[in-house]
Amino acid sequence: MTSRAETRPSIVPADEAGIARAADLLKRGGLVALPTETVYGLAARASDGAAVARIFAAKARPRFNPLIVHLPDLHAVDRHVALPPAARTLVDRHWPGPLTLVAPKRPTAPVADLASAGLDTLAVRVPAHPVTRAVLRALGEGVVAPSANRSGRTSPTTAEHVAEDLKADVDLILDGGPCRHGLESTIIGFLGDGAPRMLRPGAIARAEIEDVLGPLAGATGAVAAPGMTTKHYAPQTPIRLNARKPETGEAFLAFGDAPPHDGAVANLSPTQDLAEAATNLFAMMRMLDAAGAARIAVAPIPETGLGEAINDRLRRAAAP
Ligand code: TXA
Ligand code: MG
Repeated sequence: MTSRAETRPSIVPADEAGIARAADLLKRGGLVALPTETVYGLAARASDGAAVARIFAAKARPRFNPLIVHLPDLHAVDRHVALPPAARTLVDRHWPGPLTLVAPKRPTAPVADLASAGLDTLAVRVPAHPVTRAVLRALGEGVVAPSANRSGRTSPTTAEHVAEDLKADVDLILDGGPCRHGLESTIIGFLGDGAPRMLRPGAIARAEIEDVLGPLAGATGAVAAPGMTTKHYAPQTPIRLNARKPETGEAFLAFGDAPPHDGAVANLSPTQDLAEAATNLFAMMRMLDAAGAARIAVAPIPETGLGEAINDRLRRAAAP
């Protein structure tokens, strides 16, 4: 009989030995959770169909929802997708970093069909986190890496979050500390007519993208990322948005001043700094979810800058 402790995946520091072990496991078809600058990802070798299939199983992720391929540099990206010229100016500015592009997939892209859910487009990203980059270097090829949570649940921003959620379904968790941005990458699609569209708001604010590309088409509608289902990022506790103050029995997720409250309170940013709020969002949602309140009341967040992505996640978490 195995104890509960033994059924949990091992969490190891993201040092040289941990990175070497991660790369070795990936080579052999393993699943490794690793830190990125956005959230923790659940990585598998992108060209290994069986390993990619294990990701869908571990996350209970619908097979129609494609994955992002994480690559070391633009040279590798060019072997996977055909980027239009406008995309190049964007990646000059934002790669390595929390930007994902969706573009026509090259027929020769070294990626299992399941990774792109059979689509003729592919999502690619060049991450900035030194641990992600070191693993990619040691492996010598790309990995698919969805957020390391069960499908539909809150994304993990620490190694502990991953362990809580995925338990025995992952071979190794590399602990690189809490993630800097705390929100997933911004996804820009260059599809069909080649006009850029925002498929998912994320860690790079719209204005920083539009600064390079001009006005973008919206995130909603038929072209949105297949994974952007209405209910997502959800804790178990119901959520009430735009709450000026908490009611009895509620936990409160504050932004700015927090009124005195006889219940659990977490403050996304006492100084109303949206970058700080983004970094704290998922961890605080998990914390309040564990507080056993009847509901989580969430203070209003402005829709400006990173507020667009924060409100996107909150609305999906609150969806019935
Ligand atoms: O920051 C991030 O992007 C994190 C870290 C780990 O890199 N990853 C992440 O992956 O958020 P995931 O699988 O949780 O979200 C990927 C999103 C999904 O909404 C999916 O539908 C969309 O990207 N996507 C992937 N390939 C696509 C494609 N070919 N066309 C449109 N959307 C795509
Ligand atoms: Mg996700």
